[in-house]
Amino acid sequence: MKNLYALALCILAIYPAQSQSPDIPHLEKKDGHFALIVDGMPFLVLGGQINNSSAWPATLPGAWSAAEAMHANTVEAPVYWEQIEPAKGSFDFSNVDLLVTQARQHKLRLVLLWFGTWKNGQNHYVPEWIKSDTKTYPREENAYGKLLDVMSPNSPANLDADKSAFAALLRHVKSIDAAQHTVIMVQVENESGSVGSIRDFSPAAQKQFDAIVPAEFARAMHLPTGGTWAKTFGPDADESFAAYSTAHYIGEVAAAGKAEYPLPMYCNVWFAYPVHALENRDRPSAGQEYPSGGPQQANIPIWKAAAPAIDILAPDFYSDDFSLFRTIVATYSRADNPLFIPESQFGANFGRYFFYALGHGAIGFSPFGIDHEQTPEVPNPEGTIAAAPFRAVNPAENYALFNPPGSEIAQLNLDGKLLTAVEDKGAARQSIHFTDADAVASFGFPQPDGTYPPGTSTLQGRAVVAQLGPLEFLVSGFDVSVSFTLPAAVLQHTPNQQLEILRAEEGKYVDGVWQTTRILNGDQTDRGLNFRGGNPPLVRIHLHTLPLYDEALHRNLE
Ligand code: DGJ
Repeated sequence: MKNLYALALCILAIYPAQSQSPDIPHLEKKDGHFALIVDGMPFLVLGGQINNSSAWPATLPGAWSAAEAMHANTVEAPVYWEQIEPAKGSFDFSNVDLLVTQARQHKLRLVLLWFGTWKNGQNHYVPEWIKSDTKTYPREENAYGKLLDVMSPNSPANLDADKSAFAALLRHVKSIDAAQHTVIMVQVENESGSVGSIRDFSPAAQKQFDAIVPAEFARAMHLPTGGTWAKTFGPDADESFAAYSTAHYIGEVAAAGKAEYPLPMYCNVWFAYPVHALENRDRPSAGQEYPSGGPQQANIPIWKAAAPAIDILAPDFYSDDFSLFRTIVATYSRADNPLFIPESQFGANFGRYFFYALGHGAIGFSPFGIDHEQTPEVPNPEGTIAAAPFRAVNPAENYALFNPPGSEIAQLNLDGKLLTAVEDKGAARQSIHFTDADAVASFGFPQPDGTYPPGTSTLQGRAVVAQLGPLEFLVSGFDVSVSFTLPAAVLQHTPNQQLEILRAEEGKYVDGVWQTTRILNGDQTDRGLNFRGGNPPLVRIHLHTLPLYDEALHRNLE
């Protein structure tokens, strides 16, 4: 009983939103898989982040139409501290009201981005009354005493000012949205950390650096207590101190907001990209190549220990390097951290990264800067739009496939039943393993009998396969043919069997109920399920097994 109580407390500490009200958007965890629950149903965030200065009345119309054009169900939009608190303690939430009202008119959900103390490792969104009073609201100083355009994370006055603004924001959101849940998550700060110095070297911060590491934090990190930062963290002391200070600050801001209205809260990450410039620079340097003290890869344990009110550390991804994307997905998918990609490029990689993240349990995905993008056709190397067999990638097609059925997809992910395959160089054929069948994804067309699939020129092939029941799957994708085989492990155990399609139904989910449009057969199934076009269907395929040989006949022949 005592253990059960301790377990319950532990779960509440990790996901405090769950305990507050069954209605409020919250995160749910089941057997190591996560979902964001909105209005009692799993919700897949098909997001689009608008540009930094677009959350204003003059620019919002373009944001909504861009989100609609890409079939998004959620818009990520900033809330500017300088705009909501133009004078200390005096708040103007008119822009927030506009965001919520217009999102509802466009049947979109919102993720609010709190541009508070930090925005891309700097302080550019703090109100003027803070910027101009560096005595009361101290800046971070570099090792030579230069005042930076970064607020000190070691200043109680800075923390109090941000906490009270953020709490006022959440109080207001609750007052206008507690019944409707248009706002489903909040990002606390934006790409926090410090650009320009590894940590704050101001005299006040130095005093904290020279002091003993807070015992509670040391214990949470399973480190010896009673040591200074230098003694406890050695060569990593400066950045660890910055990470603790930043995480603790933001954790307090989040907790103050949750005390008003406990929405799920996350921090987006400007992570440490590998340094390729010079061979001897084997390690990116904190405060130069990335903001020091933010929740970058190596700081995840510090952030988890120092900011328990933050539910998700969510990497922003800006690179064409697919293997780096896979590494980052693996790093931020943890038992204590749902995978959420709150920013990515909006180019040719959008579809493959989105599919890859989805197949690794992501609760959502969101390219950045949607309201400037024209959903361009991607030209081939000759500068013209590619003709068949290679299609140009249309970013909107990705979300169109899942909106609807976002809820069914999110539920399948929560149940651990959904997997994807994404084309890569030299991997135009891939197997997706389930216990009773393997789905084989072959990318690119045409696929003449007996030849290896050609792949696509832009590596845009992608497939999604979800298990609905024994030998029953939901399948779709782009530039891919999907067929099914019996897994080697199953055949080893029971060799005399083969797999056959019983029924392949093309259809859609309407209000959560599957509706068959037509039954596929012949050329539509004989060489796998083919998804060639830009608006692929969903196919529900039922397989069955039958003996490979008539055993009686076989025995007679022997
Ligand atoms: C990452 C930031 O989080 C965004 O607010 C924006 O500045 C983009 N970078 C621009 O690429």
